[in-house]
Amino acid sequence: MQERTEHDTVSYTVENRIAWVSFNRPEKRNCMSPSLNRRMKEVLDELEFREDVGVLVLTGEGTAFSAGMDLKEYFRENEEKGLGHVRKAQREAYGWWERLRWYEKPTIAMINGWCFGGAYGPLFGCDLAVAAEDAQFGLSEINWGILPGGGASKIIVELTGFRNAMYHAMMGENIDGRKAAEWGLVNEAVPADKLRERVTEVATVLLGKNPVALRGTKWAIRRVSEMTFDNSMDYLVRTQEAANFYDAEGRKEATRQFIDDKTYKPGLGAYDLNKAR
Ligand code: COA
Repeated sequence: MQERTEHDTVSYTVENRIAWVSFNRPEKRNCMSPSLNRRMKEVLDELEFREDVGVLVLTGEGTAFSAGMDLKEYFRENEEKGLGHVRKAQREAYGWWERLRWYEKPTIAMINGWCFGGAYGPLFGCDLAVAAEDAQFGLSEINWGILPGGGASKIIVELTGFRNAMYHAMMGENIDGRKAAEWGLVNEAVPADKLRERVTEVATVLLGKNPVALRGTKWAIRRVSEMTFDNSMDYLVRTQEAANFYDAEGRKEATRQFIDDKTYKPGLGAYDLNKAR
């Protein structure tokens, strides 16, 4: 096969306000090369502020979500060129995962197949994650003689707890989507042929929520996980005050629809964004 261009390492479409972004090196199981990392950053930057995008879904073409870092183009070739190249490649990879962790819009990882090592970076970068029941997750680093870097050790212990993390990282055994859901690595696992449908359902619910409140919520959940209780309380007050500034009418309208119009109940669903006056 002809060498894939950098531009072609990522594909995306926007349908009904959902951006479906795919790792697009299926012939290499979507492992992350420096070219792919550069292109993904560009795509994320482009979609982040587009008016016609409300939710971003990250997935992979073919049989893999992503087989982690490219052992040839990311590791071997950069190590041969020297430390500067290694650091540059790290910055390109870690840069877009960070961009994803602090994305303005809600994000969902749709794990359709293999998900290894470095791919835990974007997995954790996404706010929510839905896997195919037969997807395979692994910290395969130990199998080829390195430790789980690129945040993977931190991510596995954060999401799954000490014992699961230790076993997963030391044994180099894969778990399937069902086990990943049980451990908390993803929100849920569904049969592969229902994966896109379920992700569309989740994305559609998110599209019906107040976007300023959603942005505030997802950032708050990430921030408070590293704060003391009192710092969290303070952060949440400040963040809500800032949200009130940018979305002065949203909450008033929602309160009006519940208290005055009685057209919905917040305990049972979201207010009608389209009715905002
Ligand atoms: N880095 C570089 N190349 C990779 C790769 C990776 N992480 N993962 C897959 N590839 C390449 C293979 O070398 C092969 O290339 P080739 O066609 O030029 O020979 C191609 O992708 C297809 O891979 P293959 O192993 O034949 O596919 P498979 O479906 O039989 O197996 C995996 C899939 C994911 C189990 C297997 O490719 C694998 O173990 N990959 C490495 C996973 C890993 O440890 N990642 C690193 C984490 S940091």
